[in-house]
Amino acid sequence: TKQKLWGGRFTGKTDPLMHAFNQSLRYDQRMHAADIRGSIAYAKALTRVGILTPDEQAKIVDGLTRVGQEWADGVFQVQPDDEDIHTANERRLSELIGPLGGKLHTGRSRNDQVATDMRLWLLDQVQDIEESVKGLLRVIVDRADKEKEYLLPGYTHLQRGQPIRWSHLLLSHATSFRYDLERLQQLIPRISVLPLGSGALAGNPFAVDREFLAKELGFASIAENSMWGVGDRDFIVEFLMWASLSMTHISRMAEDLIIYSTAEFGFVTLSDAYTTGSSIMPQKKNPDSLELLRGKTGRIFGNMAGFVMTLKGLPSTYNKDLQEDKEPLFDAVDNVAASLKIAEGVIATMDVHADKMAKALTMDVLATDLADYLGLNANFGPDVVDVFDFEASVERRAAIGGTSKAMVERQVSVLRALLS
Ligand code: ARG
Repeated sequence: TKQKLWGGRFTGKTDPLMHAFNQSLRYDQRMHAADIRGSIAYAKALTRVGILTPDEQAKIVDGLTRVGQEWADGVFQVQPDDEDIHTANERRLSELIGPLGGKLHTGRSRNDQVATDMRLWLLDQVQDIEESVKGLLRVIVDRADKEKEYLLPGYTHLQRGQPIRWSHLLLSHATSFRYDLERLQQLIPRISVLPLGSGALAGNPFAVDREFLAKELGFASIAENSMWGVGDRDFIVEFLMWASLSMTHISRMAEDLIIYSTAEFGFVTLSDAYTTGSSIMPQKKNPDSLELLRGKTGRIFGNMAGFVMTLKGLPSTYNKDLQEDKEPLFDAVDNVAASLKIAEGVIATMDVHADKMAKALTMDVLATDLADYLGLNANFGPDVVDVFDFEASVERRAAIGGTSKAMVERQVSVLRALLS
């Protein structure tokens, strides 16, 4: 017990099941780099207010760098009493540089430390995810640009409605992803708020320069209220909500493609790279990639709903319930990151069958055009034959947002401008 960071006052042993129950190192060790970065910045801040000498700072920074290197090299030795990444790093630091290691915790609590680590870690991940959203958008836009000539029925209620360009359908999904990208970028300033220097809850008593800490760690702003700084996890909720909505868009696109890849439709064939076979029905090529994209959506929504339940009813500031922020967040980050890459791969590699699409275009989908003709003419004239032309039908939809070629090209250029 004495080995524990907080064990000084404790004489009794922790129940072994409780010990395991309490331990988060198994999953929070993935924040090791963020934890070291935060600690190095804090050591420098302590030196600036005279709590550490420049020599002590150098020793601590050197020790922390070595601890970070051990994690990076995969040789960090976890000890049974390492409760979380914060205690593990501090324990190892003190092994390397002696009792001076403990001085790093002056005025700092794991409460402001963990909130800082989570935000730093998520900011890194969001950058990668942003690139993946752009990657997905790029392949959709490239395909849409190349396949503008393909016409197929557009569906409402899954009933054939009106002729559209295939590109228009692709770009309808791209438009959802475009706003997902925008929403993700809008989260960044609210993730990028520095909690460090909030202490346990009431603030830092050593006048550490939080402007300096924010600059060192690349935070855009500073938590203006220390109680909020240690107790807020809205940035996690917002990310989980973002992930739920983006996955919903991926799922709806996946559903279109699952339907279009059936023999009954035959509009697309997924590449072997993203399908699997059946163990008993040799004719099958199952769209497992798309089904998993659809399936993961429910799980990510569950992470979000579950964590909001965790927050509801918590008293102010830090409560251990907040440790439950990690697994849903990490799981959502992993799965949304993978989903974006898989979706990109599926779209980039599938075959599109313009002939099958054309065959699905039956004359009934021109019923609206015929009605439109009668809206302009009192009677049928000889020019009514012009109505029975799919290409003419899509070209009539030339107002902004329509499926005419010019308007599809406009969408391509709007999205390309956004991505460049
Ligand atoms: N492992 C903890 C968490 O993830 C770190 C903060 C612990 N703070 C505390 N006062 N027990 O939330």
